Amino acid sequence: MDARTDTAPAILAPKPAPRLQERRPGRLRMLLDLAWLLGALLRAAPPPAALWAGIALAQGLLTPAQLWLTKAVVDGLALQLAGRHAGNASLWLGLLAGSVLAERALDGVLPWLQATVREAAGARLREATMRKAAGLDLAAFEHQPYYDRLNRVMSDAEERGPRLAEHALQLLRTVPQLAGYAVALAALAPVLLLIVLAASVPVVGGWMLSGQIYWDVLREQTRERRLGDYYARVLTDRPFAKEVRLYGLAPYLLERWSALYWRTRDEARRRATRLAVRQRAPNLVMTAIVMLGVVWVATAGVARASAGTYAILFQSLLGILTTIFGLGEAIKALGEGSGYASEFRAFTRLPEKDVGERSPSTGTGERVGAAVLVAGGSSGANGTAPMGPPASAPLGAFPRPLREGVRFEDVWFTYPGSDRPALAGVSFAIAAGESVALVGENGAGKTTLVKLLLALYAPDRGRILFDGVDAREIDPCSLRAASSAAFQQFVRYGLTFGENVGLGQPERMGDRRRLEGAVARAGAQGIVRTLPQGYDTLLGPDVGGVDLSGGQWQRVALARGFFRDAELLVLDEPTAALDPHAELAVFERFAALARGRTAVLVSHRLGMARLAGQVLVLSGGRVVEEGAHEELLRSGGEYAAMFRAQARWYE
Ligand SMILES: Nc1ncnc2c1ncn2[C@@H]1O[C@H](COP(=O)(O)OP(=O)(O)OP(=O)(O)O)[C@@H](O)[C@H]1O
Ligand SMILES: [Mg+2]
Repeated sequence: MDARTDTAPAILAPKPAPRLQERRPGRLRMLLDLAWLLGALLRAAPPPAALWAGIALAQGLLTPAQLWLTKAVVDGLALQLAGRHAGNASLWLGLLAGSVLAERALDGVLPWLQATVREAAGARLREATMRKAAGLDLAAFEHQPYYDRLNRVMSDAEERGPRLAEHALQLLRTVPQLAGYAVALAALAPVLLLIVLAASVPVVGGWMLSGQIYWDVLREQTRERRLGDYYARVLTDRPFAKEVRLYGLAPYLLERWSALYWRTRDEARRRATRLAVRQRAPNLVMTAIVMLGVVWVATAGVARASAGTYAILFQSLLGILTTIFGLGEAIKALGEGSGYASEFRAFTRLPEKDVGERSPSTGTGERVGAAVLVAGGSSGANGTAPMGPPASAPLGAFPRPLREGVRFEDVWFTYPGSDRPALAGVSFAIAAGESVALVGENGAGKTTLVKLLLALYAPDRGRILFDGVDAREIDPCSLRAASSAAFQQFVRYGLTFGENVGLGQPERMGDRRRLEGAVARAGAQGIVRTLPQGYDTLLGPDVGGVDLSGGQWQRVALARGFFRDAELLVLDEPTAALDPHAELAVFERFAALARGRTAVLVSHRLGMARLAGQVLVLSGGRVVEEGAHEELLRSGGEYAAMFRAQARWYE
């Protein structure tokens, strides 16, 4: 073992943690990303979105129209007051009233359109997110800080996206309004317009910036906020309920949650207040400038001005002021949203390893409208993917049937963000159709080895060969389609019993004979008999189904593993929760289960290891012993010691 240690230092540098974005995007970049996201959102429901935008514009255009009508009405009334003919004043007045009515009438359609766009955009974002998440590298879920970030991006998508679209359209509506005021001002007092424009740039820019800065605050707090959510979940969710009651954990957890909640909230509030204070100065300056303008115009006068001209002038000045100030919240929200859009865009660009982008069998995300949002594919700029083949390399299919077998050649692997390799130079071979037992203390690297075997992670160094072909050159989907596994931490699906088993190969779920065969092999027939609707009984308390015991669930997971027609069978602690009878039955059937397959069995029950042709003893990420059960016992090493220790209990 020591002889190998000198090869270790090369890999001992901490492995970089996966990141969503290499560095923080620039403020301008964020705005471009915002435009990208908005475009994608509005395309979720093009006709309603176009109609909505059209109405917003039309409503905006009413403003300059109303300005002009006001001028005409006031001029007419002024003439009338002077005892002359008022012209078309009553006609203009009628049109003015009509335009106000039209504005209100259009208001009536907006909520319906907004709801339609909001729902479509929300659903689209959510679907794109789920599709993307399913294809992400496993590190996205196993590396905590990275997962925190991703999870936030994913869970925020549905709510944030549509809200952004609303703010953007609110902004759109004001464009013609502002343009109307600006044109009026330009005609009457161009200098005043320039002053107002110059004064409003820092105001609007300031809002945008404070939105973006506030996003930074939220982003910095990701960990704390997720932690707070976690404490809340422990207090309220089913899996924790027993222990929370038994140990009386509620006060302790509440205290933790509350401390975290107030700390993050206070910090966010403090930063928001500071930003608002900073924003006050330009706001006040702008208001003061506009007011001075009013005074100046009123005293200096405008050449050849009528009463109507003054009315327009004042209305335009005040209109610009109220319109711009009315946008404060929307602009801040868009600034905040631009940060979100940047993260979301980076998320859609994360390399997808697991969904059959390259595999004709699984179909790609293109089929559904999510394509726009997920476009960008594997830019690989995020450094999250383990080493892989160049994106252009054509990937081969998994060799079926396996003729030679599997070989690990000096395989090293370190978890992202860790500085200690979980596998440090593992080499061994399994002949096709043979089975190997992996044994070793907790944390030895057994499950890690299994994850690499199933291409859930790629080795940092060394190779894994299937019939001599490097796993990197094999389409991971094809590799997984040829493999089956019962994981140490198996999943309890809130679906029927039949589905829980049939998910092992969804396309063959309807094959009842196959289902029964897998169930029998896992020793789960007894469970079906006790279920009220047999195979069709819904399982899992979360969905209102029947709950099973831990061991019963494990048998269901085993049956799922056996359901698939696989070349490579991996069982990681398959009997940990089984009673002695059930365990014995699985042991006895193991040879039959593994027949015709290449099998890897991880077990702490060394009695089970003897069923495998070959035993590998792992320790600290290395293979320390290797051989047949009897051979290893005779050699009197680590395996023999473990076996004797376990056997003592049964003597
Ligand atoms: N997702 C992860 N991120 C970082 N480190 C991990 C992760 N999973 C496992 N490790 C570390 O890798 C090492 C090997 O873990 P592994 O799960 O392979 O052990 P194991 O042999 O399966 O143990 P057990 O018998 O308890 O199942 C351990 O030191 C563990 O702490
Ligand atoms: Mg394990």
